[in-house]
Amino acid sequence: MADQSAPQEMTEVSEAQIAVHWKEEEYFQPAAQLVAQANLNDPRVRERFALEKFPDCFREYAAMLDWFEPYEKVFDGSNAPFWKWFTGGKINAAYNCVDRHLAKYASKPAFIFVPEPETETETRITYQELYTRVNEMAALLRDFCGLRAGDRVTFHLPMTPELPITMLACARLGIIHSQVFGGFSGQACGSRIQDSGSRVLITMDAYWRNGALIDHKQNADIAVQTAKELGQDVDKVLVWQRYPGKYSAPTPMVNGRDYFVNEVLKNYRDKIVEPEKMDSEAPLFLMYTSGTTGKPKGIQHRTGGYLAYVAATSKWVQDIHPDDVYWCMADIGWITGHSYIVYGPLACAATGIIYEGVPTYPDAGRPWRIAEKYRVNIFHTAPTSIRMLRKLGPEEPRKYNYHFKCMTTVGEPIEPEAWRWYYNEVGKKQAAITDTWWQTENGGFLCTTIPALDAMKPGSAGPGAPGIHPVILDENGDEVPAGSTRAGNICIRNPWPGIMQTIWGDPARYVQTYYARYNKNPASKNWRDWPYLAGDGALLAADGYFRILGRIDDVINVAGHRLGTKEIESACLTVPEIAEAAVVPVMDEMKGRVPEVYIALKPGIIASDEIRARVIKANEELIGKIARPKHVYIVPDMPKTRSGKIMRRVLASISNRKEVGDVTTLANPNVVEEIRVMVQGKDAQVTQGEIPEDIAKFGEEK
Ligand code: PRX
Repeated sequence: MADQSAPQEMTEVSEAQIAVHWKEEEYFQPAAQLVAQANLNDPRVRERFALEKFPDCFREYAAMLDWFEPYEKVFDGSNAPFWKWFTGGKINAAYNCVDRHLAKYASKPAFIFVPEPETETETRITYQELYTRVNEMAALLRDFCGLRAGDRVTFHLPMTPELPITMLACARLGIIHSQVFGGFSGQACGSRIQDSGSRVLITMDAYWRNGALIDHKQNADIAVQTAKELGQDVDKVLVWQRYPGKYSAPTPMVNGRDYFVNEVLKNYRDKIVEPEKMDSEAPLFLMYTSGTTGKPKGIQHRTGGYLAYVAATSKWVQDIHPDDVYWCMADIGWITGHSYIVYGPLACAATGIIYEGVPTYPDAGRPWRIAEKYRVNIFHTAPTSIRMLRKLGPEEPRKYNYHFKCMTTVGEPIEPEAWRWYYNEVGKKQAAITDTWWQTENGGFLCTTIPALDAMKPGSAGPGAPGIHPVILDENGDEVPAGSTRAGNICIRNPWPGIMQTIWGDPARYVQTYYARYNKNPASKNWRDWPYLAGDGALLAADGYFRILGRIDDVINVAGHRLGTKEIESACLTVPEIAEAAVVPVMDEMKGRVPEVYIALKPGIIASDEIRARVIKANEELIGKIARPKHVYIVPDMPKTRSGKIMRRVLASISNRKEVGDVTTLANPNVVEEIRVMVQGKDAQVTQGEIPEDIAKFGEEK
């Protein structure tokens, strides 16, 4: 009998499923030179880290660290899904990143700071100097600010060495740091101060960005004011000076509240602060990230498990040796910077570059000049920078004499074409690329190839990292097999040491967001019953490589950075004339996605450019420039279901010039055509072809 299921299956294929019938890419093999010297070259590593070996396999990771007291248990799942790692162990992150390297590497640079202006010379900070500066700063935090283990401190620091120094000073004392990306607005910083309950804000007066010395101190005043309005008082604002001895911001200091760090530090010269022996489970830091609600969540990372995980993945996936020069171009204000500029590479005794400014300043040759000058041999960046550098200077890398052995891409899916440029031009066909998929919540890489062991496939992140067992689950919780062309929700079957502890102050949200979807028995103490929901759509090819398709929730990934649509919509609604706001992701050649805003005005209000401008300003002030909408459309009404729900998916199709599909069931179908003409023009053609999963399913009820 003929297979009758075939036509039926066809009709059930969704737009997103059609979109993923992409052609398989060819494999690329790592260079022999890289393989010969790699930290991880045991082809049986994934057997060593097989699921049956959980959790004991992770002892290997803990063994990469120095413990004051050994741990008793590798893993404790008794309070699932609040996992504990290496319990009973005592450890200090700053000790592991600095002190323990002094015996061998005291005079080797830990960091080379490269200022944005090319006329300024770099600063080299040896491990010995880092030790001194971290100790002095720790003394200041303890004795001048009265901070103790478990207290929270918010930073709003730019990309200078003072940021890792302050992080490590906190870690030395067990103070929980919460760095807010320097590009976020003062108000965004203020709400994070309030959520974390910080009494101290640490900032810098100014920093260089795209050729301008930016007044950053003004954001501190706004942040303190915002926190106060939300009920959190800040007693002290510590201000590092970009040029010590000189105040570079026009905004005045506030008497009795603001202090120049470098002046106060004079009282703590050469002070030594013993590293606190912290419980392995003591929180190390908070990192706020966007989710489906308007309020960013404080992702809480532990000390022992996190540090073990980032040390191991830095060593094995990025192949960092102490004699390598490693440059990650991310900002330390994001999780990539915490894990793979500060904690991971320092735990491996690397020499790392900290670059202050934008990669294309003053021209697209800048990164390659830096690579040549400082002999960088491991490079780490995001697709958005790769696209930008390719567009502005496709042949620039050829002009410079540098040699990368490994390169990483992170933060968003990389299209095979951009991947090939990265491989051919930036890597000069010599460097192995690791496309690392992970998230703020995860601590470190989840899917990636191992440079010396696995072939690379453009556009695919690869298999799970050692000890990580990803699976694709469908709507019903059934496993989607490898080689199927069906996309589904990528989940991780098992806990791992780098996973967050919880959401700061909101454990219920932690369970709800990451585990509720596929957990069938909330009382279960068995970790096998708690698959971790990452929030990304993905496909698993027959070769076991995962291809990440994008977010399945209301998060827009702008240039590799997460923005919650609800955050943007709430910012729009602060403009009093606005009745409703809807934000959608739009495909962008450089940034991957950018937000576009649709607004409906209150009755009697006339649309104007002035209102549009205020919507843009509200987003810049409440979130930051990164949230600036590409367009603001003032529409007569939002397309809505009969139950009154705004159909963001329809707006997303219009913004992306795609078919809107069947809208006849809407409460107001006619408005769709009106909006389409407003956005696209009367005779616009929709484009055919792939509809990325995050857009095809955007705003869908989950
Ligand atoms: O959608 C995935 C995307 O970035 C999200 C996580 O963002 P964030 O927490 O800010 O962390 C970014 C850096 C780790 C993910 O849910 N993403 C991250 N890496 C990749 C990626 N998408 C595709 N490929 C990647 N390599």
